[in-house]
Amino acid sequence: MQVMVLNGVNLNMLGYRDPALYGGLSIDELETQIYAWAHDLAVTARCLHSNDEGQFIDWIHDSHGRSDGIVINPGAWTHYSYAIHDALEILEIPIVEVHLSNINEREEWRRTSVIEHLATHRVVGRGPDGYREALEFLAARQPG
Ligand code: DQA
Repeated sequence: MQVMVLNGVNLNMLGYRDPALYGGLSIDELETQIYAWAHDLAVTARCLHSNDEGQFIDWIHDSHGRSDGIVINPGAWTHYSYAIHDALEILEIPIVEVHLSNINEREEWRRTSVIEHLATHRVVGRGPDGYREALEFLAARQPG
């Protein structure tokens, strides 16, 4: 099972952002964890991060026909990017939306996710472990 794990805008600054909201891991440490969890679940993960929305969308396009699932944390793009929405809408694979913090218990504007209704599953407010839950969700759907 091939899974694309995409982290969007500002997530490269993990480790410098409020650890009470986002946990204390850097993006490299988070990706190392994700690869270890994926290995344990017999999932082949490909972790990518970008602050460039066009690049992020190109990676969503790349996963079309090539990945069996996508785990996506678009950061602040979650709340307003119809371009990311439209790219995800093309996919025919399960989409797991992950947020480290609980976006439903923060500022009003964070409660809107324009991709929410495209997500097969959402993991919100579980910190780094949310990515493990996302991978477990996808691995459990794997046929056979
Ligand atoms: C986030 C939540 C977003 O509101 C915020 O803009 C982020 C990270 C999260 O993982 O909790 O950058 O997606």
